[in-house]
Amino acid sequence: MCGIFGYTGGRDAQALVIQGLKRLEYRGYDSSGVAVQNGFDRIHIRKTQGKIKKLEELLAKHPLKGKTAIGHTRWATHGVPNEENAHPHLDNESQIAVVHNGIIENFGDLKKTLEGEGARFQSQTDTEVIVHLVAKYYKGNLENAVRRALKDLKGTYAIAVISSKEPGKIVAAKMDSPLVLGLAKNGNFLASDVSALLDHTDDVIFVENGEMLILTENTYRISDRADKPVNRKPVKIAWDREQAQKGGHPHFMLKEIFEQPAILTAILKERVIGGKIRFDELKIPAARLARAKRIVIIACGTSYHAGLVAKYAFEELARIPVSVDTSSEFRYRDPLVGPDTLVIAISQSGETADTLAGVREGKSKKACTMTVCNVLASSLAREAHGVIYTHAGSEIAVASTKAYTAQMAILYLLAIQLGVLRKKLAPKRVQQLLKEFLHLPLLMQRVLDDYKKDQKEWAQNARDFNRRYHDQLERYFSTDPEKRKRSPSGFFLYLGRNINYPNALEGALKLKEISYIPAEGYPAGEMKHGPIALIDENPWVICIAPQSATYDKMLSNIQEIRARGGCIVPIVTEGDTEIPKLSPMYVMEIPKVSELFSPFLTVVPLQLLAYCVAREFGEDIDQPRNLAKSVTVE
Ligand code: G6P
Repeated sequence: MCGIFGYTGGRDAQALVIQGLKRLEYRGYDSSGVAVQNGFDRIHIRKTQGKIKKLEELLAKHPLKGKTAIGHTRWATHGVPNEENAHPHLDNESQIAVVHNGIIENFGDLKKTLEGEGARFQSQTDTEVIVHLVAKYYKGNLENAVRRALKDLKGTYAIAVISSKEPGKIVAAKMDSPLVLGLAKNGNFLASDVSALLDHTDDVIFVENGEMLILTENTYRISDRADKPVNRKPVKIAWDREQAQKGGHPHFMLKEIFEQPAILTAILKERVIGGKIRFDELKIPAARLARAKRIVIIACGTSYHAGLVAKYAFEELARIPVSVDTSSEFRYRDPLVGPDTLVIAISQSGETADTLAGVREGKSKKACTMTVCNVLASSLAREAHGVIYTHAGSEIAVASTKAYTAQMAILYLLAIQLGVLRKKLAPKRVQQLLKEFLHLPLLMQRVLDDYKKDQKEWAQNARDFNRRYHDQLERYFSTDPEKRKRSPSGFFLYLGRNINYPNALEGALKLKEISYIPAEGYPAGEMKHGPIALIDENPWVICIAPQSATYDKMLSNIQEIRARGGCIVPIVTEGDTEIPKLSPMYVMEIPKVSELFSPFLTVVPLQLLAYCVAREFGEDIDQPRNLAKSVTVE
């Protein structure tokens, strides 16, 4: 979380930093700031609470001229989001400024010592100790002072530091938070993420843990912990800049939902060649994959749900046992993995701290590790033994949609490939599976076309949800005991079975993330073990009930909900006459598809439902409160 950006060169630095921070805003957006070096004996800063737009407005009124600058967009860890806690932070004399992404774990002790030595702290952040340490060790050479300060720090960081005494220079360092150098004709850049550099250059160098970076307008130098120079060649990054525009949609989330059929088509085109599945970039030999006796999937958030769906696919198609863990649990459990385990880390960003730590844990136990990830050359892609890219293009909306279906697509293809390697799938079955897979984008497109056709109805339903939700809340908080006792607060319950159960979790997560409405996903079979107690006329129960081996069981669940007056929102296969008879309101349909592939279709109405409800509630859909797209702290 948090994004840092820096520029030194011949151009107006303030504008470039703002542009860079906007690209990084997905990493956090509760406050932001910029520090500019302009030849005076002090560093000048502007910072503000809120989104980058507010910083831009502030700078329009009070510009900062200068050609070397660092900036920061924040996701608060230590200290509330306000102007004081926004970065950059300054030393007592305002001669040194620091921006930081990460967490300094020993900041409490350092702060006490520094305060005793005369440092005046202005914020509650952990970061501020860095700038006072650099000031303490500064003896006329910024690089040496930063190098010395780093020795006192425990924790994670990507930092950028400037001093009014050393014009044109930025010193940066990295430990477990991402840092990328961008080399351009008229200056040098640094950023937390490649996507922020691509407006200026395709030539980038990834800085590694323990390394420092010294930038001037025309030079750059990387050195390791022992101050030995590091010679690493720049890599060229190919990324479609168009992807970062909304393309006529009111929100990135909607645009990304609509991109899914095309992404699926592109994945299949790239990966299925002449009836064979290929992962050309995966450095792990097929024989090594085939040797695995079990798979452990680790991931967070939406990627975790993709892992849960994939478990069903791997077990059905490759007949290999799979366990799925949230990365934060896996890493601290001393997990039972070894050379016979294939650890698959799923991550859109490739930067999620817990998932990265999980891969390191797997590697330390000699497991074969691979990642399914979207962001090219991200930390996970570089650290795991192998990578398969989803190539879904930049996902900007914080609530993940297209990355989810792209991850599922790659994992299904991997499951088929493993099925072949492990001799669990006959060639005929493989051809059948691929045939159905290739048809899937068309079916997904039909779900989206139906949405486009029925947009008014979707909006009307969302309005209904909104109205009833507020009625219920009013009753819940009513001082009239008669009214109050009837009503738990409105919430959404998502039920699914078998391979559609993970979509119940994903549907609930989408709604929570962007509407802030309480929502829970459950395996429908568990309904009687708790959630049924909540059912009266108030909650909406989203029942994912496509044609499947467990259809009849879902039907019974729906009867039970209906008998208790619950408001059912069913997702059914076109042509289903049973469920719509029981619950004719709010029916959402998907085209006919096998149960194995149905999660690709059932998730689309769930994404759209969350989107429509959040829009009706007037929420900030692409940048929901408190969340960040890339969680680089534990
Ligand atoms: C954050 C994002 C989620 C995402 C999760 C995992 O919580 O808001 O959308 O699913 O991180 O991120 P990753 O990049 O590892 O998939």
